[in-house]
Amino acid sequence: MNQLATTGISRCPIDHGAFGHAQSNGKPASANGCPVSGRAAEFDPFSNDYLQNPPEYVRWAREEEPVFYSPKLGYWIVTRYEDVKAVFRDNKTFSPSIALEKITPNSDEANAILASYDYGMGRTLVNEDEPAHMARRRLLIEPFTPEALKHHEPLVRKLAREYVDRFINDGRADLVNQMLWEVPLTVALHFLGVPEEDMDMLRKYSIAHTVNTWGRPSPEEQLKVAHAVGNFWQLAGKILEKMRQDPDGPGWMRYGIRLQKDHPDVITDSYLHSMMMAGIVAAHETTANGTANALKVLLEHPDAWQEICEDPSLIPNAVEECLRYNGSIAAWRRLVTCDTRIGDVDIPAGSKLLMVSSSANHDERKFEDAGHFDIRRENASEQLTFGYGSHQCMGKNLARMELQIFLEEFTRRLPHMKLAEQTFHYLPNTSFRGPEHLWVEWDPAQNPERKNPGILDLQAPLRLGEPSASAISRPVVVQEVQWVAEDILKLKLISPDGKPLPRWTPGAHIDIECGDTGISRQYSLCSDPADTSCLEIAILKDPESRGGSAWLHENIKPGDRVRIRGPRNHFRMDSSAEKIIFIAGGIGITPISAMAREAKQRGIDYEIHYSGRSRSSMSFLNELEALHGNRLHVYAKDEGNRNDFARLLATPDAKTQIYACGPERMLEGLAQCCENWPEDALHVEHFHSVLGELDPSKEQAFEVELKDSGISLTVAADQTLLQALQGANIDVQSDCGEGLCGSCEVRVLQGDIDHRDVVLTRSEKEESRKMMACCSRSAKGEKLVLEL
Ligand code: HEM
Ligand code: FES
Repeated sequence: MNQLATTGISRCPIDHGAFGHAQSNGKPASANGCPVSGRAAEFDPFSNDYLQNPPEYVRWAREEEPVFYSPKLGYWIVTRYEDVKAVFRDNKTFSPSIALEKITPNSDEANAILASYDYGMGRTLVNEDEPAHMARRRLLIEPFTPEALKHHEPLVRKLAREYVDRFINDGRADLVNQMLWEVPLTVALHFLGVPEEDMDMLRKYSIAHTVNTWGRPSPEEQLKVAHAVGNFWQLAGKILEKMRQDPDGPGWMRYGIRLQKDHPDVITDSYLHSMMMAGIVAAHETTANGTANALKVLLEHPDAWQEICEDPSLIPNAVEECLRYNGSIAAWRRLVTCDTRIGDVDIPAGSKLLMVSSSANHDERKFEDAGHFDIRRENASEQLTFGYGSHQCMGKNLARMELQIFLEEFTRRLPHMKLAEQTFHYLPNTSFRGPEHLWVEWDPAQNPERKNPGILDLQAPLRLGEPSASAISRPVVVQEVQWVAEDILKLKLISPDGKPLPRWTPGAHIDIECGDTGISRQYSLCSDPADTSCLEIAILKDPESRGGSAWLHENIKPGDRVRIRGPRNHFRMDSSAEKIIFIAGGIGITPISAMAREAKQRGIDYEIHYSGRSRSSMSFLNELEALHGNRLHVYAKDEGNRNDFARLLATPDAKTQIYACGPERMLEGLAQCCENWPEDALHVEHFHSVLGELDPSKEQAFEVELKDSGISLTVAADQTLLQALQGANIDVQSDCGEGLCGSCEVRVLQGDIDHRDVVLTRSEKEESRKMMACCSRSAKGEKLVLEL
């Protein structure tokens, strides 16, 4: 047991004589040699600054000291996305056993009070180690499947309707007190099968449990909290006893009681009693706070609010973005079981970790323009508010359902609602985060249902699990259509309301939807990333077009509204490279032109080799010549001038990176010429998928084991891995569905892969550590083990 952590003593855990840690960390040690920086020493998760905005409070750490020791808390603090995810992923090195431990140790007096109630909170799921945890989780998961959750939809809708009815004519309400606390509590009790008596009492008790577990109560408060927690424990015991007498009734807790008969070692008495108490909090406070946070952030961004009012199909992704931007779990805990390393920091066994998941959700390395609230963010659902891996929130889809239904009800019935003037207060604690009150105002005379009662019958279809790709598209207006070369059109796209478009990095692309054809196509961005007033793409009319480029050429005109998705970047440039050779064939110049501009701005040594049929078929020649002068080499075939890759790349150079985009044949030729170059020197972007249709008579079924989630699945011969994963309620992003975009990448721990995508590099394919779930399969029909 880590002495510092339990006592909270302000001492540094590092031997001050040994500077190794400070140096490996790259952080300057303070004058006395202590490697705890000034800011780390000040870190206080009970301070108002943390409570108001945890990711902002630790921005400095995310940028400069991503893993640091907090002497005030006695915990190591982890702030970056990849580090937090890596910790969640490995539940052996990073045990969840302290997830429900009191972060502030109790006084002896408070402990005596708890003992007088026989308080004995033990292991549930969230704080249980393997192998006990997974055995229990697997037994108890059935009521969380999408099929089972659908049964709760009518109740959530009914409650949302009734509660809004109560105040819709008042013009002012505290949504937390008048709805958001009670409805999720009622749903939680219904899910668990607990009678709805004593709701007020339960509310008080569950706040006490939060303060007891994640807060810093004063010695006097500790005594009050101990009584409330003791009472909560006893009430949980009584409810459990009643349930045992009627085990065939509804709810998840009775489901567990029934399973106990056959699995007494897995579903223990201690589990049931502890879960009865912890389950109410897990299912209730998280969702109540989550909805209050979501409404607050949406009302603070009136454009986003207006958009979801006008188009409810945006709600599922808006929910994900709210959970990312302003989630209800700010941080979560793990215990380090053996000496290890997080990022470049050595962490000794016995250390305690506070992973600031809300900070991970604001990490620029993962989320482009992370500080921007964007309800169309394409990877919003990769937020870590539900945790990740084997302990990932089992109730996430129930929570998503509630959030979606609440937002739907409010946007339909109170679209004119505004935040009232107020100061927001948060219960001082590290983890559970939501405003204590949320005052809103509106003019009841403007209530849409007064004019049109029919709106009450409208209902958006519920989407359980990940938002669809279509929920993340955004409308743009075509401002300019310009011929830039033979058969090549450049489109300049602006936002309909003149607001800035999302920031992007060179190599990024967007998907553009071709009207109502159901077709969408990906095009690299070629404008200046610094200019957020527009996005530019160039479209070659492809003679083998499957409808996309031909449709765009024939139909698009200035003033048209089109829908795009992204920007997204799977062709990122390493801006720390010393030298870059850019190679473009034909329309492949589009991402290369944005990258070359960036290379010039950053002072990187670079050259561009641009080939085409003829100068007239090559876009942007004049601009490129003006900007890049003699760094640009042009090869026009009709002038008898061809790029000789073998000569250009004859001498491998460890300091040079190659970025290439162009036709398949050109890229294949390049790959051959780069065989003697260092692995990963060559980065390519393909135009087309090389994927064919899935033919079940030629495919083999195979097994996959999901290491982090602890489950196994069969991928049938007529099914993709992605379909099998999504069918099992495992969140995996996807977009193109044909091995082009890289969104469905999953990590592979074991097994040979038949790679069918055009995203991974040659060496990545040989290494077989990653695969695209939408198209790639097991090479020999043998089992694959995935890090999911
Ligand atoms: C676990 C967040 C709603 C039941 C968790 C964890 C987090 C979390 C952070 C720990 C994850 C980890 O250690 O990797 C949330 C949030 C919610 C929410 C933010 C709402 C917005 C719910 C609901 C239920 C629920 C509605 C139940 C009906 C559980 C259970 C676990 C869990 C049973 C333990 C899973 C395990 O350890 O295997 N949740 N939760 N949660 N949550 Fe939720
Ligand atoms: Fe695009 Fe798989 S979804 S590569």
